[in-house]
Amino acid sequence: MLQVKTLSTLFYKDDSIIKAVDDFSFYIEKGETLGLLGESGSGKSTVALSILRLISKPGKIVSGAIELDGQDILKLSDKEIINIRGAKLSMIFQDPFSSLNPVFTIGDQIAETISLHQKLSKKESWRKAKEMLQKVQIDPDRIRNYPHQFSGGMRQRVMIAMALSCQPEFLIADEPTTALDVTIQEGVLKLIKDLQRELGFGMIFITHNFRIAKKVCDRFCVMQKGKLVEEGSQVFNKPQKPYTKKLVDCMNLLYA
Ligand SMILES: Nc1ncnc2c1ncn2[C@@H]1O[C@H](COP(=O)(O)OP(=O)(O)O)[C@@H](O)[C@H]1O
Ligand SMILES: [Mg+2]
Repeated sequence: MLQVKTLSTLFYKDDSIIKAVDDFSFYIEKGETLGLLGESGSGKSTVALSILRLISKPGKIVSGAIELDGQDILKLSDKEIINIRGAKLSMIFQDPFSSLNPVFTIGDQIAETISLHQKLSKKESWRKAKEMLQKVQIDPDRIRNYPHQFSGGMRQRVMIAMALSCQPEFLIADEPTTALDVTIQEGVLKLIKDLQRELGFGMIFITHNFRIAKKVCDRFCVMQKGKLVEEGSQVFNKPQKPYTKKLVDCMNLLYA
Protein backbone atom coordinates (compact mmCIF):
# COMPACT_ATOMS: atom_id res chain seq x y z
CA MET A 1 0.00 0.00 0.00
CA LEU A 2 1.07 3.58 -0.69
CA GLN A 3 -0.02 6.09 1.91
CA VAL A 4 0.45 9.82 1.67
CA LYS A 5 -0.01 11.41 5.07
CA THR A 6 -0.53 15.14 5.67
CA LEU A 7 1.87 16.06 2.89
CA SER A 8 2.74 19.71 2.38
CA THR A 9 4.94 20.90 -0.47
CA LEU A 10 5.75 24.57 -0.94
CA PHE A 11 7.33 26.67 -3.67
CA TYR A 12 9.34 29.64 -2.48
CA LYS A 13 9.02 32.61 -4.82
CA ASP A 14 10.87 35.91 -4.46
CA ASP A 15 8.03 37.60 -2.66
CA SER A 16 5.62 34.81 -1.77
CA ILE A 17 5.21 31.18 -0.79
CA ILE A 18 2.89 28.92 -2.80
CA LYS A 19 1.29 26.06 -0.90
CA ALA A 20 1.11 23.73 -3.90
CA VAL A 21 0.20 20.76 -1.69
CA ASP A 22 -1.37 21.59 1.63
CA ASP A 23 -1.88 18.95 4.30
CA PHE A 24 -2.93 16.37 1.72
CA SER A 25 -3.60 12.70 2.58
CA PHE A 26 -4.70 9.66 0.62
CA TYR A 27 -3.91 5.98 0.16
CA ILE A 28 -3.86 3.51 -2.69
CA GLU A 29 -3.73 -0.28 -2.74
CA LYS A 30 -1.97 -2.44 -5.28
CA GLY A 31 -4.12 -3.24 -8.30
CA GLU A 32 -6.49 -0.31 -7.93
CA THR A 33 -6.62 2.99 -9.81
CA LEU A 34 -7.00 6.22 -7.93
CA GLY A 35 -7.96 9.27 -9.97
CA LEU A 36 -6.40 12.52 -8.85
CA LEU A 37 -8.66 15.25 -10.18
CA GLY A 38 -8.64 19.00 -10.10
CA GLU A 39 -8.32 22.05 -12.26
CA SER A 40 -5.00 23.24 -13.62
CA GLY A 41 -2.71 24.50 -10.84
CA SER A 42 -4.50 22.60 -8.06
CA GLY A 43 -1.31 20.70 -7.15
CA LYS A 44 -1.75 17.33 -8.87
CA SER A 45 1.69 17.18 -10.48
CA THR A 46 3.32 18.41 -7.29
CA VAL A 47 1.76 15.47 -5.42
CA ALA A 48 3.18 13.11 -8.06
CA LEU A 49 6.65 14.61 -8.02
CA SER A 50 6.66 14.66 -4.22
CA ILE A 51 5.93 10.92 -4.10
CA LEU A 52 8.96 10.27 -6.32
CA ARG A 53 11.01 12.80 -4.37
CA LEU A 54 11.56 14.81 -7.55
CA ILE A 55 10.79 18.19 -6.02
CA SER A 56 13.71 20.57 -6.30
CA LYS A 57 14.33 24.27 -5.68
CA PRO A 58 12.41 26.51 -5.37
CA GLY A 59 10.16 23.72 -4.09
CA LYS A 60 10.43 21.77 -0.86
CA ILE A 61 8.46 19.06 0.91
CA VAL A 62 8.02 20.63 4.33
CA SER A 63 5.98 18.05 6.22
CA GLY A 64 4.18 14.74 6.09
CA ALA A 65 5.06 11.15 5.31
CA ILE A 66 4.89 9.03 2.16
CA GLU A 67 4.77 5.41 3.18
CA LEU A 68 5.37 2.59 0.74
CA ASP A 69 4.50 -0.69 2.47
CA GLY A 70 5.01 1.08 5.79
CA GLN A 71 8.39 2.62 4.94
CA ASP A 72 8.57 6.42 4.82
CA ILE A 73 10.11 7.42 1.49
CA LEU A 74 10.84 10.89 2.80
CA LYS A 75 13.30 9.39 5.28
CA LEU A 76 15.35 7.52 2.67
CA SER A 77 18.78 8.68 1.53
CA ASP A 78 19.21 9.92 -2.06
CA LYS A 79 20.85 6.62 -2.94
CA GLU A 80 18.00 4.59 -1.46
CA ILE A 81 15.38 6.58 -3.31
CA ILE A 82 17.13 5.91 -6.62
CA ASN A 83 16.70 2.20 -5.95
CA ILE A 84 12.96 2.68 -5.42
CA ARG A 85 12.32 5.09 -8.30
CA GLY A 86 11.68 3.07 -11.45
CA ALA A 87 11.72 -0.19 -9.52
CA LYS A 88 8.87 0.09 -7.02
CA LEU A 89 7.45 3.46 -8.02
CA SER A 90 7.34 4.61 -11.60
CA MET A 91 5.92 7.54 -13.50
CA ILE A 92 4.80 8.52 -16.96
CA PHE A 93 4.44 12.15 -17.91
CA GLN A 94 2.24 14.21 -20.17
CA ASP A 95 4.91 14.85 -22.76
CA PRO A 96 6.75 11.68 -23.75
CA PHE A 97 9.20 13.59 -25.95
CA SER A 98 10.71 15.65 -23.17
CA SER A 99 11.22 12.57 -21.01
CA LEU A 100 13.09 10.63 -23.69
CA ASN A 101 16.68 11.47 -24.51
CA PRO A 102 16.89 12.30 -28.25
CA VAL A 103 20.50 11.14 -28.68
CA PHE A 104 20.01 7.56 -27.45
CA THR A 105 18.01 4.77 -29.04
CA ILE A 106 14.88 3.66 -27.22
CA GLY A 107 16.60 0.31 -26.60
CA ASP A 108 19.49 2.05 -24.81
CA GLN A 109 17.03 3.92 -22.62
CA ILE A 110 14.78 0.99 -21.70
CA ALA A 111 17.73 -1.35 -21.16
CA GLU A 112 19.47 1.22 -18.98
CA THR A 113 16.45 1.41 -16.66
CA ILE A 114 16.38 -2.37 -16.49
CA SER A 115 20.09 -2.81 -15.78
CA LEU A 116 20.02 -0.06 -13.16
CA HIS A 117 17.60 -2.03 -11.02
CA GLN A 118 18.12 -5.65 -11.96
CA LYS A 119 21.34 -7.51 -11.94
CA LEU A 120 21.21 -8.50 -15.60
CA SER A 121 23.87 -8.61 -18.27
CA LYS A 122 23.69 -6.10 -21.11
CA LYS A 123 22.39 -8.81 -23.40
CA GLU A 124 19.71 -9.85 -20.93
CA SER A 125 18.63 -6.23 -20.39
CA TRP A 126 18.21 -5.78 -24.15
CA ARG A 127 16.25 -9.00 -24.38
CA LYS A 128 13.95 -7.78 -21.62
CA ALA A 129 13.65 -4.37 -23.32
CA LYS A 130 12.47 -6.15 -26.47
CA GLU A 131 9.95 -8.08 -24.43
CA MET A 132 8.62 -4.81 -23.00
CA LEU A 133 8.31 -3.31 -26.49
CA GLN A 134 6.23 -6.29 -27.49
CA LYS A 135 4.02 -5.73 -24.45
CA VAL A 136 3.30 -2.16 -25.56
CA GLN A 137 2.67 -3.31 -29.13
CA ILE A 138 5.76 -1.86 -30.74
CA ASP A 139 7.69 -4.02 -33.18
CA PRO A 140 10.78 -5.17 -31.19
CA ASP A 141 12.85 -4.82 -34.37
CA ARG A 142 12.59 -1.07 -33.88
CA ILE A 143 14.61 -1.23 -30.66
CA ARG A 144 17.55 0.61 -32.28
CA ASN A 145 15.39 3.50 -33.45
CA TYR A 146 15.63 6.99 -31.94
CA PRO A 147 12.71 8.78 -30.25
CA HIS A 148 12.13 11.13 -33.22
CA GLN A 149 11.44 8.13 -35.44
CA PHE A 150 8.22 7.42 -33.55
CA SER A 151 4.84 9.16 -33.49
CA GLY A 152 3.58 10.80 -30.29
CA GLY A 153 1.41 7.84 -29.36
CA MET A 154 4.25 5.40 -29.93
CA ARG A 155 6.63 7.50 -27.84
CA GLN A 156 4.15 7.35 -24.99
CA ARG A 157 4.08 3.56 -25.44
CA VAL A 158 7.87 3.56 -25.19
CA MET A 159 7.60 5.53 -21.94
CA ILE A 160 5.08 3.02 -20.65
CA ALA A 161 7.45 0.18 -21.56
CA MET A 162 10.24 1.91 -19.67
CA ALA A 163 8.08 2.72 -16.64
CA LEU A 164 6.87 -0.86 -16.34
CA SER A 165 10.14 -2.59 -17.23
CA CYS A 166 10.99 -3.34 -13.60
CA GLN A 167 7.47 -4.35 -12.56
CA PRO A 168 6.75 -1.41 -10.23
CA GLU A 169 4.20 -1.75 -7.43
CA PHE A 170 2.77 1.66 -8.28
CA LEU A 171 2.62 3.71 -11.46
CA ILE A 172 1.88 7.42 -11.44
CA ALA A 173 0.41 8.55 -14.75
CA ASP A 174 0.33 12.35 -14.98
CA GLU A 175 -2.05 13.36 -17.78
CA PRO A 176 -0.61 10.53 -19.92
CA THR A 177 -2.82 11.15 -22.95
CA THR A 178 -3.36 14.91 -22.78
CA ALA A 179 -0.66 15.67 -25.35
CA LEU A 180 -1.88 12.99 -27.77
CA ASP A 181 -4.33 13.18 -30.65
CA VAL A 182 -7.84 12.31 -29.51
CA THR A 183 -7.90 9.45 -32.02
CA ILE A 184 -4.99 7.65 -30.36
CA GLN A 185 -5.84 8.47 -26.72
CA GLU A 186 -8.23 5.54 -26.46
CA GLY A 187 -5.62 3.03 -27.59
CA VAL A 188 -3.04 4.24 -25.08
CA LEU A 189 -5.61 4.19 -22.24
CA LYS A 190 -6.68 0.69 -23.14
CA LEU A 191 -3.06 -0.44 -23.23
CA ILE A 192 -2.40 1.00 -19.75
CA LYS A 193 -5.48 -0.72 -18.32
CA ASP A 194 -4.68 -4.05 -20.01
CA LEU A 195 -1.13 -3.95 -18.64
CA GLN A 196 -2.45 -3.10 -15.19
CA ARG A 197 -4.67 -6.16 -15.31
CA GLU A 198 -1.71 -8.30 -16.39
CA LEU A 199 0.93 -6.89 -14.03
CA GLY A 200 -1.20 -5.83 -11.06
CA PHE A 201 0.33 -2.45 -10.25
CA GLY A 202 -1.62 0.23 -8.42
CA MET A 203 -2.04 3.44 -10.39
CA ILE A 204 -2.44 7.08 -9.52
CA PHE A 205 -4.07 8.51 -12.60
CA ILE A 206 -3.88 12.28 -12.84
CA THR A 207 -6.23 14.06 -15.19
CA HIS A 208 -8.44 17.07 -15.60
CA ASN A 209 -10.55 15.15 -18.11
CA PHE A 210 -13.45 13.62 -16.21
CA ARG A 211 -14.66 11.53 -19.11
CA ILE A 212 -11.34 9.68 -19.10
CA ALA A 213 -11.26 9.55 -15.29
CA LYS A 214 -14.66 7.88 -15.14
CA LYS A 215 -13.51 5.24 -17.57
CA VAL A 216 -10.18 4.44 -15.99
CA CYS A 217 -10.44 4.96 -12.21
CA ASP A 218 -11.99 3.03 -9.31
CA ARG A 219 -11.90 5.85 -6.80
CA PHE A 220 -11.13 9.56 -6.82
CA CYS A 221 -9.52 12.39 -4.90
CA VAL A 222 -10.60 15.87 -5.85
CA MET A 223 -8.03 18.60 -5.21
CA GLN A 224 -8.41 22.34 -4.96
CA LYS A 225 -5.54 24.71 -4.19
CA GLY A 226 -3.42 21.92 -2.78
CA LYS A 227 -6.11 20.59 -0.47
CA LEU A 228 -8.28 17.49 -0.60
CA VAL A 229 -11.88 18.51 -1.26
CA GLU A 230 -13.55 15.14 -1.58
CA GLU A 231 -12.57 11.48 -1.77
CA GLY A 232 -14.45 8.37 -2.85
CA SER A 233 -16.15 6.68 -5.78
CA GLN A 234 -19.28 8.86 -5.59
CA VAL A 235 -17.62 11.94 -7.04
CA PHE A 236 -19.48 11.81 -10.35
CA ASN A 237 -22.79 10.32 -9.33
CA LYS A 238 -23.28 11.91 -5.95
CA PRO A 239 -20.76 14.68 -5.33
CA GLN A 240 -20.84 15.64 -1.67
CA LYS A 241 -19.14 19.02 -1.83
CA PRO A 242 -20.36 22.12 -3.72
CA TYR A 243 -16.90 22.51 -5.31
CA THR A 244 -16.95 18.95 -6.65
CA LYS A 245 -20.44 19.44 -8.02
CA LYS A 246 -19.43 22.63 -9.80
CA LEU A 247 -16.33 20.95 -11.23
CA VAL A 248 -18.30 17.92 -12.43
CA ASP A 249 -20.98 20.12 -14.04
CA CYS A 250 -18.32 22.14 -15.78
CA MET A 251 -16.49 19.04 -17.04
CA ASN A 252 -19.73 17.47 -18.24
CA LEU A 253 -20.29 20.56 -20.38
CA LEU A 254 -16.73 20.46 -21.71
CA TYR A 255 -16.50 16.77 -22.46
CA ALA A 256 -20.14 15.96 -23.20
N1 LIG B 1 8.68 24.60 -10.25
C1 LIG B 1 7.76 25.42 -9.75
N2 LIG B 1 8.10 26.66 -9.32
C2 LIG B 1 7.17 27.50 -8.80
N3 LIG B 1 5.88 27.19 -8.64
C3 LIG B 1 5.47 25.98 -9.04
C4 LIG B 1 6.38 25.03 -9.62
N4 LIG B 1 5.69 23.90 -9.92
C5 LIG B 1 4.41 24.13 -9.55
N5 LIG B 1 4.27 25.37 -9.02
C6 LIG B 1 3.02 25.98 -8.51
O1 LIG B 1 2.38 25.04 -7.67
C7 LIG B 1 0.97 25.03 -7.89
C8 LIG B 1 0.52 23.63 -8.27
O2 LIG B 1 1.05 23.30 -9.54
P1 LIG B 1 0.91 21.85 -10.19
O3 LIG B 1 1.23 20.85 -9.16
O4 LIG B 1 1.72 21.86 -11.42
O5 LIG B 1 -0.64 21.80 -10.52
P2 LIG B 1 -1.46 20.83 -11.52
O6 LIG B 1 -0.59 19.68 -11.88
O7 LIG B 1 -2.69 20.46 -10.77
O8 LIG B 1 -1.80 21.68 -12.72
C9 LIG B 1 0.70 26.08 -8.94
O9 LIG B 1 0.35 27.29 -8.30
C10 LIG B 1 2.03 26.22 -9.63
O10 LIG B 1 2.19 27.51 -10.16
MG1 LIG C 1 0.05 18.99 -13.77
